Amino acid sequence: MRYLLGIDIGTSGTKTVLFDEKGTVIASESEEYPLSQPQNGWAEQNPAHWWTAVKNTVKEVVNASGVNKKDIVSIGLSGQMHGLVMLDEKNEVIRPAILWCDGRTTSQCKEIEEIIGKERLIEITANPALEGFTAGKILWVKENEPENFAKCRKILLPKDYIRFMLCGEFATEVSDASGTQLLDIGKRQWSTEVCEKLGIDLSLLPKVYESPEATGNLKEDIAEELGLESKTVIAGGGGDNACAAIGMGVCKEGKAFTTVGTSGVVFAHTNALHTDKGGRIHAFCCAVPNAWHVMGVTQAAGLSLNWFRNQLAKEYDYKELDKLASEIPIGCDSLIYLPYLMGERSPVLDAGARGVFFGLSAIHTKLHMARAVMEGVAYSLYDCLEVLKENSIEVGDMALCGGGAKSRFWREMFGDVYGVNVKTMQTSEGAVLGAALLGGCAAGVYSSVEEACDKTVISGDTYEYSKENHEKYMKYYSVYRTLYPALKESYKML
Ligand code: XUL
Repeated sequence: MRYLLGIDIGTSGTKTVLFDEKGTVIASESEEYPLSQPQNGWAEQNPAHWWTAVKNTVKEVVNASGVNKKDIVSIGLSGQMHGLVMLDEKNEVIRPAILWCDGRTTSQCKEIEEIIGKERLIEITANPALEGFTAGKILWVKENEPENFAKCRKILLPKDYIRFMLCGEFATEVSDASGTQLLDIGKRQWSTEVCEKLGIDLSLLPKVYESPEATGNLKEDIAEELGLESKTVIAGGGGDNACAAIGMGVCKEGKAFTTVGTSGVVFAHTNALHTDKGGRIHAFCCAVPNAWHVMGVTQAAGLSLNWFRNQLAKEYDYKELDKLASEIPIGCDSLIYLPYLMGERSPVLDAGARGVFFGLSAIHTKLHMARAVMEGVAYSLYDCLEVLKENSIEVGDMALCGGGAKSRFWREMFGDVYGVNVKTMQTSEGAVLGAALLGGCAAGVYSSVEEACDKTVISGDTYEYSKENHEKYMKYYSVYRTLYPALKESYKML
């Protein structure tokens, strides 16, 4: 039996899992780290925290598993997307990483669209300039911290920084590179036109691979420190959403999933590149060679519930909060929440938007607010699903994953709001399993990503949505839909 390590460098923490080649979990560890918000709407992290968490969790998993290190054949990396890591000539990190949920780059995004032209930008990168994406962050550093930009020799995404630390290679892969806004999404390679026009030297960027390709092997000293062999292959891996797709078996046309992690995502696999004209949903390369995906992103999904619980309902643990919120009626006695705590991506594309409780009355309790938060996140992702439908992307059953999907109540709410049946997978590991399977492809354990999914990903329970509940939710959703347009100008004033 061969064994595959998956590592997911997330926003709240890093998770490392060792699987056997059938996809069974052998050992699992995670370690959390902080997120710093130096200003309203900014979000940064220290890459050293990721690296420490990766080393600690890999060592613990390898030790706990009891597996012979020569049988651990591969490492697959998954990670939070878009984050900007800059290295100097000594390969040292120059400044804290600027993360996907940081909204400081509105003026750089305008600049990008002016320089390249909005239509041309969408033609090449399949997306409009968005604050979350990496290109604007690079320009922000260039304009606001010219001394840091001058020192920069390499630009990496979070998981690719970990790859560099593990194997010394400067490499990325198409799914994560799609979120930089510097990739030609159709051609799956860096766009010389975009890079030249934005003044980003191509030598700053790592080599681009396909996700299941091998990108290197462990450095001798690191292998020894981690208790692994230096021949262990490191695969391209993927952005967390592209990896979650593989871990959920979403690797063919017609398949889709929703993840409720710190952010929330609705994701559908497509055999051809579909670009939404307004750029309301993202179109990216996926981890299956020669295929793409569309996805809508809610910036603060699980983050909304964490924020609410930590700031306003600390006396409850998440299980209690979940149970008590489920006893509040649908619609929360007319209370609606907009989950725009970190601005919003799809479909409103407004980094200046902020969270709202709408309709608060004296009858409302904290538990009404908790349920309203969960409903607001579901409405927000339903908003994205509607855009997929407008683009003629039909989804059958919807698979669910991520920390939020561990709540049966929230899962059923998603089914009822979406009006589709929702299912879980037997292994709920999502991104980390997907990353491990890509590693297995790179090590020759599987001959293709599709084969890896067929051999390992097994469906779990399906919840059949209730039409009656769907109709009730739609009444509130129709109010929800009016709120952002009504507030758009007020957000600007705020
Ligand atoms: C996707 C995105 C988020 C992060 C979260 O575009 O920004 O889903 O990848 O980890």
